[in-house]
Amino acid sequence: MTDSLIDPPQISEHPAESEAERSTEGIQTETLQSIQALPATAKTVMSGMRPTGKLHLGHYMGVLRNWVSLQEQYPCFFMVADWHALTTKYDDTDSLKDNILDMALDWLAAGIDPGKSTMYVQSAIPEEAELHLLFSMITPAKWVQTDPTLKDMVAMLHEDLSYGLLGYPILQTVDILCVRAGLVPVGKDQLAHLEISRDIARRFNHIYKTDLFVEPRPLLTETPLLIGLDGRKMGKSYNNAIFLSDSADETLKKVKTAITDPARVKRTDPGDPQNCEVVYKYYEAFAPLAAQNLAAEECRTATRGCMDCKKTLAEFINEAMAPMRERRALYASDRAQVEQILREGGEKARETCQETLRKVKDVMKLF
Ligand code: TRP
Ligand code: SF4
Repeated sequence: MTDSLIDPPQISEHPAESEAERSTEGIQTETLQSIQALPATAKTVMSGMRPTGKLHLGHYMGVLRNWVSLQEQYPCFFMVADWHALTTKYDDTDSLKDNILDMALDWLAAGIDPGKSTMYVQSAIPEEAELHLLFSMITPAKWVQTDPTLKDMVAMLHEDLSYGLLGYPILQTVDILCVRAGLVPVGKDQLAHLEISRDIARRFNHIYKTDLFVEPRPLLTETPLLIGLDGRKMGKSYNNAIFLSDSADETLKKVKTAITDPARVKRTDPGDPQNCEVVYKYYEAFAPLAAQNLAAEECRTATRGCMDCKKTLAEFINEAMAPMRERRALYASDRAQVEQILREGGEKARETCQETLRKVKDVMKLF
């Protein structure tokens, strides 16, 4: 294990973060303290991602890094949500299989350990479909119709809302409750969905007089979003992202395109790191405090040019990505092995889901 700054065990030493953040590796302290008090059965972690393509550094800093540290403490289920991808991309399935494997590979590279976490594909669990049907019976339509996260998704559509997309939050609830997880690491945008999951869990328990489901709680991550190299939101379609699969050379090339303080027109113009919205922000995320301070000082005094500043930054980023590249190399040449990991994870998750479904049908007194 190298001493990369963004590798999860080292992130707690991150100089740019406050004491409280450091002690929790990006997960809110308060939440962690209240987790201690939860019964063991409520401490299973579940989260998922839609397989929409290659993951970038923003995904790592904002999501994967947390998953990797959670797997050290809790049983974790990490799911590739391919059915969720179909809620909007049902007519664009040519690359779905590749996207699933690419994403699993990105997870493995990031440090998700299949020996610790259960990694699987949603569609490998037919029990989820059955539980989705049962949950859809007990969920008032109003709950999903008024879900603000879903409304945002619908607003971006070029067509009418499908029945499947309307069920998005119910399916996500199934993902969580099927493995009876109590902790769900998500971003702020997912809180509305999670509220529905809590409501469905409570409603189910109430109607069928059981305590089968715990109300899942969000584990919010505090890490600010890593901005794209051009200053916009980091995204695949903007061509402004460093992908986890990028080589050191590609990374350097991309960093060189990043925007800097616009006041530094000539090499001799002094700059202000606070107006350097990308490069300096990345220093704060990837460089040790001393290197941040040095860059800031030499920027203000125009003793460092932006090109040199970026080269040094690329070195820090590459140092942080080195362990990911090492792990990727182990799997990249052998996609069958990645498939195997997903298949085994699916079998394991499925056992839990089968048990859940049996209990659900039991308390519902179904035939
Ligand atoms: N809706 C989530 C997203 O777009 C992905 C997701 C699917 C998920 N199933 C989940 C997240 C279950 C948490 C738990 O990011
Ligand atoms: Fe940004 Fe560095 Fe250039 Fe200053 S020297 S503007 S911090 S890239």
